[in-house]
Amino acid sequence: MLYRPRRLRHNTLIRDMVAETHLSPNMFIYPYFVTKGEGIRRPIQAMPGVNHLSPDELVRDVEHSLTLGINKILLFGVGDEKSEDAHSSHDHASSVPTALRRLRAEFGTDLYIATDVCVCAYTTHGHCGILANDQVLNDPSVTLLAKMALTHAEAGADMVAPSDMMDGRIGAIRNLLDLNGFSHTSIMSYAIKYASAYYGPFREAADSSPQKGDRKGYQMDFRNQREAIREAQLDEKEGADVLMVKPALAYLDIIRQLRENTTLPVACYNVSGEYSMVKYAAQQGLVDEQKIVMENMYAFARAGANIIITYHAKDILANKWM
Ligand code: PBG
Ligand code: ZN
Repeated sequence: MLYRPRRLRHNTLIRDMVAETHLSPNMFIYPYFVTKGEGIRRPIQAMPGVNHLSPDELVRDVEHSLTLGINKILLFGVGDEKSEDAHSSHDHASSVPTALRRLRAEFGTDLYIATDVCVCAYTTHGHCGILANDQVLNDPSVTLLAKMALTHAEAGADMVAPSDMMDGRIGAIRNLLDLNGFSHTSIMSYAIKYASAYYGPFREAADSSPQKGDRKGYQMDFRNQREAIREAQLDEKEGADVLMVKPALAYLDIIRQLRENTTLPVACYNVSGEYSMVKYAAQQGLVDEQKIVMENMYAFARAGANIIITYHAKDILANKWM
């Protein structure tokens, strides 16, 4: 036998030498849920190990994350006033802008802060835009999202990440940011976001379930892949700096295709359902948490992701799993 692939698997040293995929803490973005108040650290039932944090508790938690090597975070606002027009989404007194100012004052440029830009946690109906006759209106929603992005940039966000899936929002956000002197603020587009049941635990965490109907009128149909590349190309033309695929595990084929169809950095979002399934399975002793988490992380990197947004990041670094 001339070819014996097992020779290169003989021991750890040779396996490490020929490994084709590598992970680095630099690839991780850790998501946080921020809420108003003081001294709040409320566990999220649906997501073991994840909490709602008030800005002061968030500062303490981020301080710890920084010691682990996590210096990029993604902020979600929870518990702000809900209304038909989602006005608290662009209110400087809301949880996310408040947290941004605190974090910026505390950590300066040691922390890179991205914010989720979407109004579903701020609308009474829970949809990701303005609703009229059971339809989410595209262009008025885009105007609102751009205002929200600007509010975050003004409060200190390094990056805004629109997750709404309205058409044309990247261009509108880029334009409004530039007009207001925020040409240095980057945009990570949730470019390819599928209508997915894997967001279940997050909707409990963010209290953002649609009261009526679903999100299929704006999020993508999971039967489609050519459309995914079209979505990404539009966002790239409109000025996105990073393109994201979401969810990640069931969409490795899409991550790979996007990696081959753009020169921009590709991010993937290892979403709440993917996280909680692993957590609960591990708690039941069905799977080895460390092994299954790391297998998933390598799968994302192997598929072509350059950036991994994951709730597992803290466990990985705190327990030295990599
Ligand atoms: C808001 C938003 C969602 C997620 C990120 N931003 C939920 C949704 O679209 O229903 C999901 C994140 C996760 O599941 O971890 N548009
Ligand atoms: Zn939304």
